[in-house]
Amino acid sequence: MPDLSGKVAIVTGAGRGIGREHALALARAGAKIVVNDLGASLAGEGADEGPAHDVVRELEAIGGEAVTNGENVADFAGAKRMVQQAVEHFGRLDILVNNAGILRDRMLVNMEEDEWDAVIEVHLKGHFAPTHHAAAYWRELSKSGKEVRARVINTSSPSGVFGNVGQANYGAAKAGIVGFTLIAAQELQRYGVTVNALAPNARTRMTEAAFGEIPPPEDGFDPADPANNSPIVVALCADDAQDITGQVFFVYGGIVNMLRGWEAGELFASDTRWDPDALLQELRDRLPDGAAPAGMLASMHEAGGQSMRER
Ligand SMILES: NC(=O)c1ccc[n+]([C@@H]2O[C@H](COP(=O)([O-])OP(=O)(O)OC[C@H]3O[C@@H](n4cnc5c(N)ncnc54)[C@H](O)[C@@H]3O)[C@@H](O)[C@H]2O)c1
Repeated sequence: MPDLSGKVAIVTGAGRGIGREHALALARAGAKIVVNDLGASLAGEGADEGPAHDVVRELEAIGGEAVTNGENVADFAGAKRMVQQAVEHFGRLDILVNNAGILRDRMLVNMEEDEWDAVIEVHLKGHFAPTHHAAAYWRELSKSGKEVRARVINTSSPSGVFGNVGQANYGAAKAGIVGFTLIAAQELQRYGVTVNALAPNARTRMTEAAFGEIPPPEDGFDPADPANNSPIVVALCADDAQDITGQVFFVYGGIVNMLRGWEAGELFASDTRWDPDALLQELRDRLPDGAAPAGMLASMHEAGGQSMRER
């Protein structure tokens, strides 16, 4: 296991599910952890310090050092306080895992404004705000001549990279997180910060709400175990991964697929501006069967995984 001793990590939404597993895995590798969790409901309502406190106790029980943070990740000032807490409490910050998230699924024709706004806010601003404040801290360190080997791990979703029906708000936010990852990776490389993203899969309250109960297998490997998503986080946090940045890792059980995102594809080239009729003809000639997204299930199969819905 990569040795992360001496490093300090913030894991957002670490009170439950996948974030809790990231915190445990990073602590086992030696990192000290700021366990952030608002303790919100799945829809993002309410607050409860209990889940974050419980995880701090679990980390301490395995010999780790951890502290609770109850900030809302989408609160810009709160995110700054969270970064300050890591630096003041543990003396430094090396790793930021942006994982906190909520769901308010609805077909887009029925979606209410607040369902759109809340999901975009928690996921997209909830990635920007902590990353901004952590990046400002790392830039200052780098400018003062210190060697920085810092990490941001963001959390996208198969819904964001492949597109899942009923999740226009969530999928748009998760696709935005991929765009954010690509840009942050390029902007922060000069300060010694890598920025990557996961498209995870796991049995958590989030997937059980979407797909119903997902019972674990009676024996053998459990591909839906949320802990399956954490080895790639630990690996990316190793000093040896200093030159791997701007990537999106789909995870399902023992499958880790480094996805290819938007890249150059079918080229329609003309020496002058296209005439729409000619362009339509070209589209019809090259796409006799039309063109449409494959959908999340087919794309997950192609990536080596499957949907929780199929379990
Ligand atoms: N479970 C999956 O299969 C799956 C698939 C794709 C993506 N994801 C993503 O993985 C991440 C973790 O999801 P999970 O399945 O573990 O869900 P979860 O509901 O079990 O955990 C999410 C945690 O985030 C916390 N949280 C919510 N809003 C917050 C806020 N504003 N500030 C701080 N904490 C907040 C919640 O209190 C909760 O403990 C999410 O970003 C989710 O969208 C999960």
